[in-house]
Amino acid sequence: MMEKIKVDLAERSYDIAIGSGMLDKIGSELSSFPFSPKIALVSNPTVFGLYGERVLNSIRNAGFDCLEVLIDDGEEHKNLISLQHIYSDLLRHKLDRSSALIALGGGVIGDITGFAASTYMRGIAYVQVPTTLLAQVDSSVGGKTGVNHELGKNMIGTFWQPRLVWIDVETLKTLPGKELLAGMAEVIKYGVIHDGKLFDFLDAEKKSILNLQEQALIHIIKRSCEIKADVVSKDEREAGLRAILNYGHTIGHAVETVTRYTQYLHGEAVAIGMHLEARLAQKLNFISSDTAERIRNLIEAYGLPSELPHGLDRESVLSSMHLDKKAIAGKLTFVLPEKIGSVKIKREIDEQVLREILKA
Ligand SMILES: NC(=O)c1ccc[n+]([C@@H]2O[C@H](COP(=O)([O-])OP(=O)(O)OC[C@H]3O[C@@H](n4cnc5c(N)ncnc54)[C@H](O)[C@@H]3O)[C@@H](O)[C@H]2O)c1
Ligand SMILES: [Zn+2]
Repeated sequence: MMEKIKVDLAERSYDIAIGSGMLDKIGSELSSFPFSPKIALVSNPTVFGLYGERVLNSIRNAGFDCLEVLIDDGEEHKNLISLQHIYSDLLRHKLDRSSALIALGGGVIGDITGFAASTYMRGIAYVQVPTTLLAQVDSSVGGKTGVNHELGKNMIGTFWQPRLVWIDVETLKTLPGKELLAGMAEVIKYGVIHDGKLFDFLDAEKKSILNLQEQALIHIIKRSCEIKADVVSKDEREAGLRAILNYGHTIGHAVETVTRYTQYLHGEAVAIGMHLEARLAQKLNFISSDTAERIRNLIEAYGLPSELPHGLDRESVLSSMHLDKKAIAGKLTFVLPEKIGSVKIKREIDEQVLREILKA
């Protein structure tokens, strides 16, 4: 079974294909694109060790001459140094303007490969083969690419859409449980911002999802990608609507920053953010306390944190929010639920109200 979604961006449109056993079929799919025979697979040793052979076999059996480029595993390697290695390998092996890069891995590999593709020879094609839940429902779709700078995360980047997103849910079987749950935070986010039915499904089908039952996984990944694809096709460069994807992220990013990216995975920090931002929405009478409670319960049902840790300095969370690259002229903007399945963007939130939420 394979599901397909189209990301509608005129001449930059592309498909997202989701299914099981997809890694063995990537080669024949790539043959239908006008890529030169020389392509490169970018991955890290962890993911390559698990799936590299299968993907390479499929690609080489389809007649491609495929170079492997491995960068060290970890967010700390999503930087300009790794990028430099990628460029050197591509140049040494004479990849040309119609070559393509294939990103096999989580969001780190996807982001850096996309950035390399967007700049190598002024821009070549790339394909996303995401292997974490976060990458499958979020980072592989939408064309945001980039690397970190020592002065800030994702500060160097481009918008560059992939030609294809190829998702194999089987890869989730080897993903550490904590990473899976962190990805679930983004899925819950899609339910809250745009799809009450997805929210209900997550509630009702928790067992099958956590047991990695394929139909259930395909369903939630498909709905998540559809929502992201829809938002991105209406607002590719985040001039407005795309900001709704930041629900839970204003507080979430501040939590990540204040805890120096060591205490929480991104999704875990976003889970705390979603709960507190739901509380903020409740305080502003956008939603009832029942609705805020339903959001918190679902977050906790997936084993995710919902509260700020004791001892974390609330004032530093607040000041970190003001420094976020998404804060405009010092004014805090929040994406707040108005019911499950719909959100509103609220600008100029009163700092005192926010302080009460953080201190509760
Ligand atoms: N471009 C975007 O729109 C966007 C959106 C959200 C996040 N991001 C970026 O994504 C990155 C986080 O991505 P992530 O959460 O996927 O982390 P990640 O890429 O670091 O992957 C997490 C860990 O899981 C391992 N792994 C990956 N797939 C596996 C598998 N199938 N089995 C076993 N292990 C596996 C990885 O090697 C890594 O150790 C961040 O850099 C973030 O900035 C980008
Ligand atoms: Zn996120």
